[in-house]
Amino acid sequence: MHIQVKTIYHHCLHLGINKIRCIAMKENHILETKGVTINFNGLVAVDNVDFKLLEGESVGIIGPNGAGKTTFFNLITGFFPPTKGKIFFYGKDITNNPPHKRARMGIIRTFQLVSVFDSLSVLDNLLLSIINSSNIPPSKDNFYFAEAHKEDLKNLCLSSLSTLGLEQKAYLMTSELSYGDKRKLEIAVALSMNPKMLLLDEPFAGLSDQEIIEVSKIIKEFKKGFSMVIIEHKISRIVELVERLCVMHEGRLIAEGIPNQVLCDPLVREVYWGKEDGLVCSV
Ligand SMILES: Nc1ncnc2c1ncn2[C@@H]1O[C@H](COP(=O)(O)OP(=O)(O)OP(=O)(O)O)[C@@H](O)[C@H]1O
Ligand SMILES: [Mg+2]
Repeated sequence: MHIQVKTIYHHCLHLGINKIRCIAMKENHILETKGVTINFNGLVAVDNVDFKLLEGESVGIIGPNGAGKTTFFNLITGFFPPTKGKIFFYGKDITNNPPHKRARMGIIRTFQLVSVFDSLSVLDNLLLSIINSSNIPPSKDNFYFAEAHKEDLKNLCLSSLSTLGLEQKAYLMTSELSYGDKRKLEIAVALSMNPKMLLLDEPFAGLSDQEIIEVSKIIKEFKKGFSMVIIEHKISRIVELVERLCVMHEGRLIAEGIPNQVLCDPLVREVYWGKEDGLVCSV
């Protein structure tokens, strides 16, 4: 790696965490990937990636198009098995666990292209996710819930939609929402699944400036509750949201550290903006 991987202690200092708690946190990696690699018929999309995420930490991943960022999320969430390497969640080897099992463990993601059901109402998208993430098997009697629970669950969903500013749209068909509102709904669905680690793949892609501000506010508000990894091209936005920034290039993590330092690294600047970027860098 071009930048020395920052020691956990420096990272703690940056977060204002004292040394004793820092040492306690040292073992507390919610996620660890060791040498994770995937080879698509000769194309090594993710190459020997070692990555660690602390409990409660927010990390950004940036990198040029095709760098392997989304594929890395696909490996963490179990959409693809790695060709090589291991993935640990709270120290448990989950390399061979299927996506639904990882979701039940609290590994929740959103997608680069918003992924919600257009043909359901906004409220039903959320209800469905709650049923799905509960252990209730769908049946004729409980699919749309026993009467007694129906009202409670509906109120829970409405209150969750309200925190995201979508309560007035609860009964609209999802197809009628703007892309920004669909993104908020996708985040509401992800939050309803009780994430321990939330992976957001380009949450601002396709959003207007106003929508970016709104979604950014939502992420800031919720990120305190769990660990988070955010892939994003909008660098000015991502640096406001994360404590640590990683840079991926050609399947490898080429740098990581405090966001402003990483952005000033000459290799990162060359990979991301080309040699003569002309930008002034302040650390
Ligand atoms: N299922 C697949 N089969 C074959 N190649 C794939 C597959 N998924 C991704 N790739 C290739 O892996 C490489 C990394 O793709 P990936 O989508 O992870 O990049 P990315 O960093 O997310 O890019 P972007 O910023 O454009 O979203 C690309 O060359 C892509 O074409
Ligand atoms: Mg991608």
